[in-house]
Amino acid sequence: MDILSEQIDWAIEKSAAVISRYQQDSGAYPSSPNFDVYKYSWIRDGAFIADGMSRVGRRESADQFFAWCSNLIIDRRESILNGEHLNARYTYSGQDPTNEWGSFQLDGYGLLLWAIKQHQQRYNLNENIYKEATGLIQHYLDIHWQEPCFDWWEEREGVHAATLACIYAGLQAYGHPTAAIVKAAINLKKERLDSSLIICGLFDAVDPPAMDQIIKDIEASLIGPDGGVYRYADDTYYGGGEWPITTGLLGWYYIKTGRQNQARLKLNWMIEQMKDSGWLPEQLKTNMLHPEYYDQWVAKWGHPANPLLWSQSMLLTLAHEMPK
Ligand code: BGC
Repeated sequence: MDILSEQIDWAIEKSAAVISRYQQDSGAYPSSPNFDVYKYSWIRDGAFIADGMSRVGRRESADQFFAWCSNLIIDRRESILNGEHLNARYTYSGQDPTNEWGSFQLDGYGLLLWAIKQHQQRYNLNENIYKEATGLIQHYLDIHWQEPCFDWWEEREGVHAATLACIYAGLQAYGHPTAAIVKAAINLKKERLDSSLIICGLFDAVDPPAMDQIIKDIEASLIGPDGGVYRYADDTYYGGGEWPITTGLLGWYYIKTGRQNQARLKLNWMIEQMKDSGWLPEQLKTNMLHPEYYDQWVAKWGHPANPLLWSQSMLLTLAHEMPK
């Protein structure tokens, strides 16, 4: 085995071990186990984490998370049918959090449908296992998809292309007729340049030429000196460093569009950030866009989240996507 494959294997083992180590007995995945404000299980993060674990053979971990989600959804059956909103994150035991947050976010529920479907197909699981929960989620998305909600980064309220792409992917996975209507409503012209938009290309939610232009714009202005990917130009959260999540997304898009060498560079960058500890943070402290904001965030919430389980899972996803 060459050195590169050994490094990839090491990074997969390490990332999966970090995720397993912190997965709760309930099945919930903490967003970050050491960062107080992230000691909750986000549906968006969790869908990606479970998908990553499912891809690399950690079937039980994904099963436990999906079962936790399924119970949580079925417990809220009445409020879903009454048209009420669900949360973006929950306590590990599946309760709604009590503190303030931009809690109405629809993307996670689309991602959850998508991830469950992938997992069931990958392991040839019985369709009935999550039938009640996935039916309720489809109903939920069908009635709320046009409503403004918080974006992936939980900062801006609106109808965002990345959110719609996730809803589309989830409904499409179940053949729901609203999927095509959601896709048709995606309007890239209204979007700020943001690397969360890469998900639109990964889910075939926008036309390839439009996506290629966005990728060119991201390459021109949202890539750090070592190749890590920023979220958006005005990002001041912890100084606005490069994010492993968005770097992994770009690598995945490169594979989808046949650019394996460029994908490999993104994977190398992610492995490099894991160094000896094997941990991947939410963002890097090097090459910040707005370093003058860093200290005030540390004073407010402590050091940046590390490890971040969604970052670890993007390593799994990208490594799994790399052609063998
Ligand atoms: C990010 C969200 C993420 C949450 C938990 C926030 O800082 O903007 O995308 O879901 O942290 O990881």
